[in-house]
Amino acid sequence: MNPIYAALDTPDMEYALSLAGRVAPHVGGLKLGMEFLAANGPQGIREFDRFGLPIFADTKYHDIPNTVAGAVRAIAAIGVQIVNVHAAGGEAMLKAAHDAARAVNPNMKVIAVTVLTSLSDQDLVAVGQTTPARDQVLRLAALAKECGLDGVVCSAHEIAPLRVALGPDFLLVVPGIRPEGSALGDQRRVMGPKQALDAGGSVLVIGRPITAAADPGTAARAIAESLGF
Ligand code: C5P
Repeated sequence: MNPIYAALDTPDMEYALSLAGRVAPHVGGLKLGMEFLAANGPQGIREFDRFGLPIFADTKYHDIPNTVAGAVRAIAAIGVQIVNVHAAGGEAMLKAAHDAARAVNPNMKVIAVTVLTSLSDQDLVAVGQTTPARDQVLRLAALAKECGLDGVVCSAHEIAPLRVALGPDFLLVVPGIRPEGSALGDQRRVMGPKQALDAGGSVLVIGRPITAAADPGTAARAIAESLGF
């Protein structure tokens, strides 16, 4: 299965639909995040049914268990393939998210965000977390697995230790992918698509290398072909 999920990071429905139309033949799924959901609401996701591709709703829910369970039930009813929550919400919240998803749509994958890749070890100390980011990522990923979640979002550089710690079936969803020669933008710890897949990544979330290209369809196709799809 083509592991590329194109990140359609825009609040603009028409632009998101036009991007999706161009990349759809070359990707395995579409990712719609906070920006899109804030502007268009979860119902906006339905507009993408026409492409017949799985949708990753990058919701990053983080609240008390009852509230997260309600939100997960609502997004599951829209019919998305992957949804995410913050692992830092804790055991009860993660279990509530898992149970809510299974009750409405048993095929939907619930994955966890561990430590935001924008946070340095210094930033973590400032919010009272003194263990290094790498240890915290492993700790939260293990917690997510114990609570029944299907995987985590991680940087490409975390794939190898997470794969060893969490086994072959745990989904590792990887942003920060940069084919050789493409601009870094605000990403720092990047990896090429082939290297990330070879390291054990399950899903590659790719935004600007596709969406900011002169021809997004051609860019998506080139990445897919480099992976043998
Ligand atoms: O444009 P780019 O390829 O950097 O897009 C990466 C996508 O992955 C964006 O939608 C971004 O919000 C998301 N993401 C990330 N880092 C994380 C979690 C999600 O870049 N830790």
